[in-house]
Parts: sequence; structure tokens; C-alpha cells
Amino acid sequence: MSLNIYANNITKKVKKKTIFENLKLNIQNQSFIALVGPSGSGKTTLLNILSGYDTHFEGELFYNQWNIKKEDLRSIIAYVPQQEILHKDLTLWKELWYIAKIRFSHMQKEMIQEKINKVIYDLDLKGQEDTLIKHLSGGEKKDYPLL
Ligand SMILES: Nc1ncnc2c1ncn2[C@@H]1O[C@H](COP(=O)(O)OP(=O)(O)O)[C@@H](O)[C@H]1O
Ligand SMILES: [Mg+2]
Repeated sequence: MSLNIYANNITKKVKKKTIFENLKLNIQNQSFIALVGPSGSGKTTLLNILSGYDTHFEGELFYNQWNIKKEDLRSIIAYVPQQEILHKDLTLWKELWYIAKIRFSHMQKEMIQEKINKVIYDLDLKGQEDTLIKHLSGGEKKDYPLL
């Protein structure tokens, strides 16, 4: 799926503090963007807004010209945090099962298993199902948002 993100005059305030003001942004599909700034300049705050986790802001945010609802956004956009949020002592399969059970709570067991198998295959992790998360490589640990 192609995704263009357009933000117009986004302002984020927390209590009386303005984190950023009238921010404009146009990210084209498949572009590779680096968001650079000193600690505390608002990078994480902006990512939370663009990915739909934070809806408390002023301004307009469009995805392919659509004003998408927060719930729908969750299935098309994700970001990988710097800090790992995986359970190090679970196996790859158990960890994906745990995440999938939360994300797809109404889905049938067989469908969830199919989804997990596809992700493992797509990430070239076939045969690693029983490997503990802590034994996966750094890069392999960053791949789970594809689920
Ligand atoms: N919920 C909040 N309440 C008060 N201050 C916040 C809140 N969220 C972020 N901030 C402040 O906004 C600024 C930007 O934070 P952040 O986006 O995490 O910066 P960065 O990721 O660029 O280091 C920081 O000064 C931070 O302390
Ligand atoms: Mg940050």
C-alpha cells in the first residue's frame, strides 16, 4: 500500500508548554526520512502524532488526502521504538502469539497462527520459532511491527 503523509500547521501543547508550533510536513510514499534534533526537541512527540497514538494536537493531518480515524490508522502505520519492548525470555513464537492475541483478540486461533507463520516466513525467520528473543540478533528484534 502506498502512503503519503501531509501535516499542515500542527501545533502540540502540553499544559502551558508549546512543544512545536505550525509544523508543516509532506512525506512522499517510499521516501526515507531522518528526523533530527536535540534531545527534548519533540521528535518522539511528532512520531506519536503521525502514527495516530496521540490525537491531542491542533492542525490537520492527512494520509493520502484522507483524514483517517485513529483505529484505522493502527493497521497501516507503526514505528519501532529505540528501546525494545519485547519479552526477552519468551520464544519467538510465544512472543508473536502474545502480541497477536492482544492485537487480534477477536480473530480465530487458526487465523492468528496463519498470520504468525506468514510474518516469520516474510522476515526470513523460519526455523527460529523456538529461539528465545534474547538470542535473536538486534535487527531481528526490530521486525515485529510487521505483524
Ligand atoms: N506529556 C508531557 N508532559 C510534559 N512535557 C512533555 C510531555 N511529553 C513531552 N514533553 C516534553 O516535550 C519535549 C519534547 O519531548 P520529546 O518529543 O520526547 O523529545 P525528543 O524525542 O525529541 O527527545 C520535552 O521537553 C518533554 O519533556
Ligand atoms: Mg525521543
